[in-house]
Amino acid sequence: MSELASLFNPKSIAIIGASKSPGKIGNVIVKNMIDCGYKGKIIPVNPKESTIEGLPCYPDVNKIPEPVEMAVLSVPAGKSLEIATACGKKGLRYLVVITAGFKETGKEGLELERKLLEICRQYNMRMLGPNCVGLMDTHAPINATFAAGFPLKGEIAFISQSGAMVLSILDWSYQVGLGFSKFISLGNKADLTEADFIEDASEDPNTKVILCYIEDVEDGTHFLDVARRASRKKPIVILKSGTSQAGAQAASSHTGALAGSDLAYDTAFQQSGVIRAKNMSELFDLAVAFANQPIPQGDRVAVITNSGGPGIIATDNIEEKNLRMARFTKETIESLRNNLPAESNIYNPVDVLGDARANRFHYALQTVLADPGVDSAVVLVCPAAVAEPAETAKAMVGLRKEYPHKPLFAAMMGGPRLGEGAKILSDAHIPCFTFPEPAITSISGMVSYSRIKNSTVPSEQQTFNDLDLKTVKATLFDVKRDNRLVLLGSEAAEIISAYGIPAAPTILAINPEEAAAHADRLGYPVVLKIASPKILHKTDVGGVKVGLDSREKVSSGFVEIMDNVHRYLPHVAVYGVEVQKMMPKGIEIIIGMTRDIQFGPLLAFGLGGIYVNLLKDVSFRLADGLTQGEINSMIAETKAYTLLRGYRGEKPADIDAVLKIVGRVARLVSDFPEINEIDINPVFAYNQGASALDVKITIS
Ligand code: COA
Repeated sequence: MSELASLFNPKSIAIIGASKSPGKIGNVIVKNMIDCGYKGKIIPVNPKESTIEGLPCYPDVNKIPEPVEMAVLSVPAGKSLEIATACGKKGLRYLVVITAGFKETGKEGLELERKLLEICRQYNMRMLGPNCVGLMDTHAPINATFAAGFPLKGEIAFISQSGAMVLSILDWSYQVGLGFSKFISLGNKADLTEADFIEDASEDPNTKVILCYIEDVEDGTHFLDVARRASRKKPIVILKSGTSQAGAQAASSHTGALAGSDLAYDTAFQQSGVIRAKNMSELFDLAVAFANQPIPQGDRVAVITNSGGPGIIATDNIEEKNLRMARFTKETIESLRNNLPAESNIYNPVDVLGDARANRFHYALQTVLADPGVDSAVVLVCPAAVAEPAETAKAMVGLRKEYPHKPLFAAMMGGPRLGEGAKILSDAHIPCFTFPEPAITSISGMVSYSRIKNSTVPSEQQTFNDLDLKTVKATLFDVKRDNRLVLLGSEAAEIISAYGIPAAPTILAINPEEAAAHADRLGYPVVLKIASPKILHKTDVGGVKVGLDSREKVSSGFVEIMDNVHRYLPHVAVYGVEVQKMMPKGIEIIIGMTRDIQFGPLLAFGLGGIYVNLLKDVSFRLADGLTQGEINSMIAETKAYTLLRGYRGEKPADIDAVLKIVGRVARLVSDFPEINEIDINPVFAYNQGASALDVKITIS
């Protein structure tokens, strides 16, 4: 049982700030608790009253002569600390703080909230809110909210950071007959967060699907950990509004610029198996689908329609959503050919023609549902004169029972003529829309979930036992002592080399003679690069020379680079010139990292070189808990992967070496949180091995 299970099933609830005055929040909560059929003890607390709504009332929690498990606070914020302390002393386990006037109001409110949380921690109480609507559970039952009503019983848990959203969805749900297991209004999330309630709902036998509306996640690591486990048990669909702070970071690296604002959330959701809804309609369409339909076994969709156009729209949409049009078996095609009019389209989408009555829809649908190559079906009904929408709907209801493992969706494409049919479908919990797109989007979400649930990608993390932490520490120490946030190329190369990432040997020279001596040692040809933490785009200021194949060229190259840089940027601090061994050309890729405030290191992999930002062939993963399987899929998602595998007869590159670099970068940035950004661009991937050419590292 979840740690929070008894939050929804407390033996007794004190309502502090309970009121006799109708319409006051303190009165609504008492009434809601009584009306919902709560089986425990309701104890109103108000210093002026002896009874409220017929229940004995106490002046404060200390005067209650029996143990109390939970309290709902509906008193002004200024009284909250004193009351919370009394609750703590009384030994309560949970506080639901409805009261507003905390963090959301500014500095003073934030301080008040901090103190309230401190009291909860001191007395081992868990808190929902403050500034929330409260919580409901239709199975418990409990309605510790000031909402105008109680949800219909169902299997959807809705967790919302917005209280207004809870109230709106509740009201809307009566209209569409949608049932819920739980409603949770998170409020300011001072203590309990979405992660706690996702975990709880994943273990709740009355919840089939978990829906969230959130604006942010504060503890990304905890969220990822919970969501990874919970999504294996139940579908989690999240609508996340607003943008993260990642985009606000200075985009000094390619990786930072590519990551953009909301990408860390997208990546976190994808990596933890959460389905992200784009808007409210999608969120609830998916909720209805998951609550009432079986999870499809695959992505092959059959479409039955009585009109060509909608069939084409559905086909386009199926492709767009990465689903497949089912290919029927010979038997299915034969059967459709023999039993439908000659003009019908017997291939997918099946067009039963405008003069189809219910029996024709029934035959076609039954035939395709019986086909082993069909995983789900969508029926599109247009209001032709002879159409029998209600009878067609009834036929679908019957077939839904006959084929319980195949999800079935409908679009009743019209208005009043199709109303009865749509109602029959809704009453039978077959999702019915006006147009095909939401049906396909719902199937797509369900297929994503079935992939998550059935995925067997390697879940172990790469392990390395050749990491030289000492060198990294020493190098970072020197950089910090030098009061710098940007590492020189040679320092960055040293750091990644210490973590077993092959880097082209790079040495700093402070005069032409030294540069020539280094070049002698490295072997010709070499590359010279200006060494300055302030210069990010070295080529633009004449700070790079490649292919130098003699001592003389290296010496004069040194002088030229210095002259160029002094001319372009006369006041910029320059540390010298880096001499790098010139490496043979390989496939250019980029491996980078930018740090997200909530989710930590965000890794990037893709096509490298100077066109990185133009081509944007990059995939992302969070380093936190990154598995071998996730690194594999990260690489396989890009076009760079096509090149690495050997494009147009070229020899394949050493993909294993590339995978290891990603794993080692992930480990480096996890071990050293002060590393803020990394860009390794390009990495040359060879037939055997790989080499990092240009490495940029910034620290915080
Ligand atoms: N213990 C118990 N009850 C107490 C008390 C105490 N120490 N001190 C006062 N009360 C009583 C009051 O006497 C009053 O009862 P009454 O109606 O019999 O007079 C009741 O508690 C409520 O106090 P009151 O001062 O009347 O406050 P209120 O009802 O006007 O407002 C809140 C209280 C919590 C509703 C209000 O402060 C608030 O935060 N409103 C916004 C809520 C919100 O929007 N939440 C977020 C949703 S997303």
